Amino acid sequence: MSNSIDATDITKVNMVSPEVLECPYPYYERVREEAPVHQTPLGFWAVSRYEDVLSVVRNPEMFSSLAQSNSFVTPPPPEVIEIAKQGYPRVNTLLSNDPPSHTQFRNLVNKAFLPKRVAQLEDSIRKIANDLIDAFINDGKVDLVEQFAVGVPLTVIADALGVDRADMPKFKKWSDDSVAPLSGMLTPERQIECAHSRIEFQKYMVDRVREREENLRDDLLSDLVQARFDSGERAGEGMTMPEMLDVIAQLLVAGNETTTKLIAAATLMLVENPEQMAKVRADHSLIPNLVEEALRMEAPVQMLPRFTKDDVEVGGVVIPKGSVVMAMYGCANRDGGKYPNPDMFDIERDNARTQLAFGQGPHFCVGAALARSEARIAFELLLSRLNNIALANVDTPTHRELSMTLRGLTNLHLTFTPA
Ligand code: HEM
Repeated sequence: MSNSIDATDITKVNMVSPEVLECPYPYYERVREEAPVHQTPLGFWAVSRYEDVLSVVRNPEMFSSLAQSNSFVTPPPPEVIEIAKQGYPRVNTLLSNDPPSHTQFRNLVNKAFLPKRVAQLEDSIRKIANDLIDAFINDGKVDLVEQFAVGVPLTVIADALGVDRADMPKFKKWSDDSVAPLSGMLTPERQIECAHSRIEFQKYMVDRVREREENLRDDLLSDLVQARFDSGERAGEGMTMPEMLDVIAQLLVAGNETTTKLIAAATLMLVENPEQMAKVRADHSLIPNLVEEALRMEAPVQMLPRFTKDDVEVGGVVIPKGSVVMAMYGCANRDGGKYPNPDMFDIERDNARTQLAFGQGPHFCVGAALARSEARIAFELLLSRLNNIALANVDTPTHRELSMTLRGLTNLHLTFTPA
């Protein structure tokens, strides 16, 4: 980190400066030590230590996830609001909802992602990953992001939903455009493009849902069409179309970007730490813990907001009612109080699985078992089929959106020899 930042009061540092975003960890370290809970210049409150983050996300009574206008994000241009009116209204189902309503939706979706269901996908995930490797194995070089890490989760979720693989490029675009506004740093033109994407996504999915309503199939979309709330006021009812679209959008988006980022980050860390690479090559039973350690070191979702319902104390600091609080998952994951030598990538770290990259509490990632399985299979195959993996002398891998929420590599050019 530059001297200008070192010399500054850490509570005054702009977290979204490109310099901090490219490598936020020195900044995080100072926040954890000097001002673990503080109001940032952007208006929201930063909660940075492991135990404090847990206390926030496990307490939806005080820390709401209900979507509110994020005061730190510039309001969208009027065109965006007009375009949005052409589509279905936004509703709160999973991420941006609170119990008890959240619990109802969560129960519907949970069933599709039970470990047993995920285990049934093992062979198809393996086939998808192997096919992607087949396409580049004879080249001796690859951009692992574009040619592998994007394709694995995208194909898995497209197949699970039951949509045509030929439509995957559209999926990718909709998925990218749906998370892009989260950065809060888009040009008005790009915001308009993203708003159009949302409408296109809705039109496409409404047609697919209608197809299932007429003819059920053996896929996730059909499961969602048939799902009925099991308790509460709406017991026995199904989801409305806006609710269904919101759930599908979250499955599509939450599952793609994040898993792509995980696979790429874990690979880069292995390449940069040859002794760790050698260990895992020698013993594939270390792969699940490698995945946890990569999630700890480089959380694809660095932080997410909550909204205080009352004055509330966190780590000895009182945060006023109506504040935006950021649960800083990526920062908490490097809390030295929880993880000795926190900046060291250690695939044998015994508590790596306690990492917070999937969140905690009622919003704990519904796709965690699937993501873990995709990443495990990806590394079983990459490490079996590719030897001598090294960084290609092309360009330095950099991080994508420069967003404080999502963190992932733009590309990862590698060379290798086929095993
Ligand atoms: C490495 C991969 C992944 C990471 C790092 C990740 C991260 C997260 C995090 C941090 C949350 C918690 C949100 C909060 O605290 O408010 C979350 C929730 C969620 N994730 Fe994931 N996720 C991943 C993969 C997936 C996959 C594969 C799917 C589905 C196909 C998925 C679907 C969801 C959904 C629907 C939620 C909302 C759950 C709720 O609010 O109850 N995620 N994820």
